[in-house]
Amino acid sequence: MSKTHSNLLVGLLAITLAVLSYIAWSPAEPAKERSPDSQSQSASNDPREAVPMNAEQMQFALAQMRGFLEAVERLEAAEREMDTETMARIAGAHGPGKNQAPQGFRDRLPETFRAMSSATRASFAAMEKDLSNGDLDAYKATRLEALRTCNACHSSFRFVLDPD
Ligand code: HEC
Repeated sequence: MSKTHSNLLVGLLAITLAVLSYIAWSPAEPAKERSPDSQSQSASNDPREAVPMNAEQMQFALAQMRGFLEAVERLEAAEREMDTETMARIAGAHGPGKNQAPQGFRDRLPETFRAMSSATRASFAAMEKDLSNGDLDAYKATRLEALRTCNACHSSFRFVLDPD
């Protein structure tokens, strides 16, 4: 065998070993992350900004959230019946100023959070208007925008219990 050929073979062997050791080692990483130790740390490793709330504020905020998701479900159901009047009523119930927040609630919210929250409520009001006009196409575009805001906020913020 010529020198060039054996050099080539050694090179290939080295590459194969490198690939094999990569394959052998890489599954060890996720397994390590699943250890019970790191599971208890997952909340502190959460990259989303923590929004502190007391128990009452937290219950209020989460109830608002569940109300949003229920509204989305009820809107879908009414849309299947082509009942735009009911749809307008459902959307309108989540517009701005339709909720009685507990004392000090808004003061604790970061600026961006508040902006996204207002944008969501404004979208529900816009959906009500679209539906009252019988404009399903505009309604769908507004709804998509609202859903994008839900997801944008969920990936940026989380609630944490803080009694103060
Ligand atoms: C301004 C920010 C923001 C917006 C906008 C927002 N959410 Fe949330 N939502 C949150 C946060 C923060 C949580 C708590 C997540 C956490 O702590 O992990 C939450 C939780 C929820 C939950 C869980 C409720 C529970 O009882 O655990 C649901 C369901 C939900 N949101 C639905 C929605 C829907 C649907 C929309 C849009 C129509 C929406 N949210 C818009 C911030 C937001």
